[in-house]
Amino acid sequence: MYQDLENKVAVITGASKGIGTAIAERFGKEKMKVVVNYHSDETGAQETVAIIKENGGDGIAVQADVETEEGNQLLLNQAIDKFGDLDLWVNNAGMENSHETHELSLEDWNKVINVNLTGVFLGAKTALAYFVEKNKKGNIINMSSVHQQIPWPTFAHYAASKGGVKLFTETIAMEYAEKNIRVNNIGPGAINTPINAKKFADPEQLAATTAMVPMKKIGEPEEVAAAAAWLASAESSYVTGITLFVDGGMTLYPAFQDGKG
Ligand code: BGC
Repeated sequence: MYQDLENKVAVITGASKGIGTAIAERFGKEKMKVVVNYHSDETGAQETVAIIKENGGDGIAVQADVETEEGNQLLLNQAIDKFGDLDLWVNNAGMENSHETHELSLEDWNKVINVNLTGVFLGAKTALAYFVEKNKKGNIINMSSVHQQIPWPTFAHYAASKGGVKLFTETIAMEYAEKNIRVNNIGPGAINTPINAKKFADPEQLAATTAMVPMKKIGEPEEVAAAAAWLASAESSYVTGITLFVDGGMTLYPAFQDGKG
């Protein structure tokens, strides 16, 4: 646990399931106060809040659409109204779907870019405006993916959004470094979350994915949450603009693992 996190206020977008929930639960253990954003899964968000409280923290569930400025502003307002401040913003909400690119509709392209990339911009903008106004040492964590680096056929919109998140993060990390605002990325690989449930329930697909991970296993959401807690804490005080991959080595060219090449 990181003692400096106690009583810190965090917004986490997309925290009704998966990695967002795991981060919220971990922040509960850190005794933080968490705005648990959800889009449509109110039950999941309420369950997350209950676990945060059981773990020793505090939380509220807030429905908001991260694709809009009003949605992000509402999350900030709730943090201030309920918990008095904002210390950390985690842009976690994301989505994916698979289409061959010549058949990918403009609607699907726009939806994925709006949630995964524009949502990160709007969340970061909202948090930055508050930190700058208050002259506050702030912290932003963006959820990217190994696919900010690894091309992913039939997921061109998703890969494009995550590639965008990478350079967006690096750019604003540089832009706000002198103001003591740190901005970092986390790049999860194959993680045991609802987004992957169907894929990993199929033994063949599970084996195919595991084969692409040098550690030969799927990651757990808690392992991503541990990275988020470290980036949130003062233990990472001199770290900004990085992507911390939590991927069992997936980004290390696993095809070379047997020494051929
Ligand atoms: C995706 C997962 C995928 C993983 C590795 C993640 O960004 O959300 O669906 O399994 O990358 O390819």
